[in-house]
Amino acid sequence: MAVVEGAETPPPPILSEARRRPPAPRPATLLVCTTCRAGEPDQEGRPVRGARLHAALVAAAAPEGVQVVGVECLSACSNGASVALSGPGRWSYVYGGMDEADAPAILDGAARYAATADGLVPWRERPEIFRKRSLARVPPLSLSEPADV
Ligand code: FES
Repeated sequence: MAVVEGAETPPPPILSEARRRPPAPRPATLLVCTTCRAGEPDQEGRPVRGARLHAALVAAAAPEGVQVVGVECLSACSNGASVALSGPGRWSYVYGGMDEADAPAILDGAARYAATADGLVPWRERPEIFRKRSLARVPPLSLSEPADV
């Protein structure tokens, strides 16, 4: 576009309200194994530890941007009860050795996880149960795509 000497400078384009707002945070998912027995013997009528943990997490208010989803087995059976955190573009984590008493700390950790863009919460800011009971972490799919050659 040619600039004409003395011509009035056009005003900057006006962005719509929707385009000016920061993008909505992508949701994080807290997966909870509902079938973990964690070595407990059958107790007639009493839900297994994973189901009790799931119930405790659902009963508490989920942090903003976190959805709690029950799943049957996260393949961490010998380390139950287990939970996992995952989300688009984020590292995923699997944690074990949980029970319903850990629900507040799990939700605190989930909130911190959801507040990140990539799932990487600084080590010192993670709840102690996440620092000590991590079983695995998996990179986001975007990191597993082959690099351009
Ligand atoms: S039964 Fe819970 S991880 Fe397999």
